[in-house]
Amino acid sequence: MSGLSVAARWMAAAGGEMLAGTRGFATDLATVSNLRAVAPRQNDRVLGLGTLNPRVRATEYAVRGPIVLKAGELERELRQGAQKPFTEIIKANIGDAHAMGQQPITFLRQVVALCIYPELIGSPDFPADAKERAQRILQDCGGHSLGSYSASQGLYCIRQDVAKYVESRDGGVPVDPNNIYITTGASDGIMSVLKLLLTGEGRTRTGIMIPIPQYPLYSAAISELGAVQVNYYLDEENAWALDKSELRRSLNKAREYCYPRALCIINPGNPTAQVQSRKCIEDVIHFAYEQKLFLLADEVYQENIYAEGCKFHSFKKVLYEMGAEYFNTVELVSFHSTSKGYTGECGFRGGYMEVINMDPDVKAHFEKLLSVRLCPPVPGQVAMDVVVNPPKPGEESYKTFKMACNMAPDMFYCMKLLEETGICVVPGSGFGQKEGTYHFRMTILLSIEKLKVLLQKVKDFHTKLLQKYA
Ligand SMILES: Cc1ncc(COP(=O)(O)O)c(C=O)c1O
Repeated sequence: MSGLSVAARWMAAAGGEMLAGTRGFATDLATVSNLRAVAPRQNDRVLGLGTLNPRVRATEYAVRGPIVLKAGELERELRQGAQKPFTEIIKANIGDAHAMGQQPITFLRQVVALCIYPELIGSPDFPADAKERAQRILQDCGGHSLGSYSASQGLYCIRQDVAKYVESRDGGVPVDPNNIYITTGASDGIMSVLKLLLTGEGRTRTGIMIPIPQYPLYSAAISELGAVQVNYYLDEENAWALDKSELRRSLNKAREYCYPRALCIINPGNPTAQVQSRKCIEDVIHFAYEQKLFLLADEVYQENIYAEGCKFHSFKKVLYEMGAEYFNTVELVSFHSTSKGYTGECGFRGGYMEVINMDPDVKAHFEKLLSVRLCPPVPGQVAMDVVVNPPKPGEESYKTFKMACNMAPDMFYCMKLLEETGICVVPGSGFGQKEGTYHFRMTILLSIEKLKVLLQKVKDFHTKLLQKYA
C-alpha cells in the first residue's frame, strides 16, 4: 500500500468499502487488486480495514476527497519542475480566503498577537483600543494567560460580546450569554449538537433532514454518528429555493424507515448561495413546530450577501417575531464562524452557537459532553471576539479598520447608500474634512416633493446602517 499515491490510497480505502459489499466510491479493478495484494499485511494489525469502525469507512468528505489529494500531488510535481499543460493549481474547491491571498484584518491580528504575547502591550506599535481588548480578555483567562484552558463554554467576556452582537444584529431580540457556546469553528458545534440527537434503532433511528445540495460536513457527520440522512431537495429551477411541500414529501417518506428528529438549514446556502426570504424562514419554523423537529440553522455566511434585494434574516429573529408560542417552544441552534464573513480566518477555528429552548436537563448533558473536549482553542475564541466586536467609530483603530475594507468610512457610506437606495452623493473626503470626521455632500436642486422622498430614504438607510454597524 505504501507504494500507492495518496489519492490512490484514498481510493483503495473506498474500494475496500465496496469489497465489504456496502456503498462506496466507484473504483477500478487495478485499485481493488492493489487492496487484495496488501490484505495479509493489514491482517497483522489490530486495526485494519476489516476492524476499522464501519462508520468511519462509510464517511465521505468531498471537499477534501481524492480530487483535492490529487491536486496536492500535482502541485508538488510542479514544484519539482514537472511539465504539465498548466503552471499552477488554482484551488477553487474550498472557501479558504487567506489561502487564496486575502489579507488579514490588522485589528484582529493585533488583538490576538497582544493576547498571545502580552509583553507587546508596552509597545508603541499597537493601538490603545487593541491593547484594551487584549487586557480585558486576558483578565478572563486563567493565570491571565492564553495558554490556559478556558471554561468549556468559552471565555465569559467573549460570550458576552457575542450576545451583544446577536442582540444588535436582531434589532434588540434578547440574548442570554448562557445560551452562547464558543466552538472550534462551526463544524465542531454542528457535530456536537448532532450527537445529542442520536437515538433509536431500525425505524426509530434518528433521521436528520439536510438540503441537497448540501455542505458535505452534514453527510459526513451523519455517517460518522450512524444517523439516517434524510434528503430534501432545493429547487434549482427556482434559484435553489426551499419549498415547504418538498420538506413535507421528504419527511413523510423518511418516516417509513426512520424517525426524523432534526432539520438542518444552510442559509445563506452552500454550495447553492441562495438567501432565504423571511417568508420562507417563517414557513420552515412553522413546519418544525408542527412536525416537532429540532432546528439547526447554519448561518456562517450571514455577512456574505452581495446580491441586490437579498437580505439576511436570522432564524432567531424570525422565530421571535412569530410570537411567544413559537419563540418559547421551537428548539433551535444557530451557528456562526470566523471562517467566513469579511475576516475569512479559517485557520483560527473560531465559532459560536446560540442554543434556544433546549431542555435544561439536556443542556446539562450537553455541557458535560462539551467539557470532555475541555475547551475550544483560546486564540480562536479571541478571533471570534474581534469578529463580533470590531473597532467602533471614535476608537483609534476604526479608521484603519474601515480602510481594511479598502474604503474610507465616508466612501463606504456613500457606496452603500448608492447600492441600497440608488441615491448618489459625494464622500466628504473629496472636499476635505477634519481628521476623524466624515461627511457626504448632496445637492438640493430637486423639487420639494422629490426631496422629501429622498430625505426619507436617506433617513431609513442611515437608521439601518447604524443598527448593522453599531
Ligand atoms: C455551510 C458551512 N457550514 C459550516 C462550515 C464549516 O465552517 P468552520 O470552518 O467554521 O468549521 C462551512 C465551511 O465552508 C460551510 O460552508
